[in-house]
Amino acid sequence: MFADIHAHILCDIDDGPKTFEQSVELLKSAFENGIDRIVATPHFYASYHSLDERIAKRDERFNILNEYIRQSGLTVKILPGFEVRYFDGISRSDSLDKLCINNSKVLLLELGLIPITEKVIDEIVELDYSGYTVVLAHIERYHKMPGFKAVQQILKNKYAIAQLTASSLLSGPFKSAAFRLLKQSPNVVIASDMHSVDVRPPVISQAYDAIKAKFGPAKQNTIIYNSNRLFDIVGE
Ligand SMILES: [Fe+2]
Repeated sequence: MFADIHAHILCDIDDGPKTFEQSVELLKSAFENGIDRIVATPHFYASYHSLDERIAKRDERFNILNEYIRQSGLTVKILPGFEVRYFDGISRSDSLDKLCINNSKVLLLELGLIPITEKVIDEIVELDYSGYTVVLAHIERYHKMPGFKAVQQILKNKYAIAQLTASSLLSGPFKSAAFRLLKQSPNVVIASDMHSVDVRPPVISQAYDAIKAKFGPAKQNTIIYNSNRLFDIVGE
């Protein structure tokens, strides 16, 4: 069974499921795909979300789904988190701990389609120096952005973990970039970034099969281990 540290599975909070029923449908689909540990990561945008309101809403939706899991007997563990869009000054933000996954020091950070400037890179390195583990969400998407070489360098130097999207390894415009990053980066995790059973569905099992086909079982096991280990860290 697999861990998935990036999932829009809570309902009516972002561009994931609109209804609770859709949320449950997505949960069951994930479980059928072999996913039994999930970090629920709604979007957080500092420019227009109030953090306290966002946490309250996230926790409310989280508790509803968690209660469903408990009552249904589904052997899935979920944890609360956010997918945090980069904002200027994030490395010195007083809110960092609240933005991390489940009171850990692990931050799922989305760069967004912004120029990857020296400032952005410096802040990621600063977060690492401050004791945070930065997981760069769906990093394959940014491979054509100016400044991406610096991202590759900080990944190589282990200042951050590369999160690649399972569906990117199967098809679409980011496939070759995803495989290149998988080959180059020492610390990679695969996550679904699931939004619905149609939009970016949970296909982690197929992604691990694709890794095995391309690089062999040792690489596949390493990548599965990375995600399991990260989930253990945030679940402590
Ligand atoms: Fe996402």
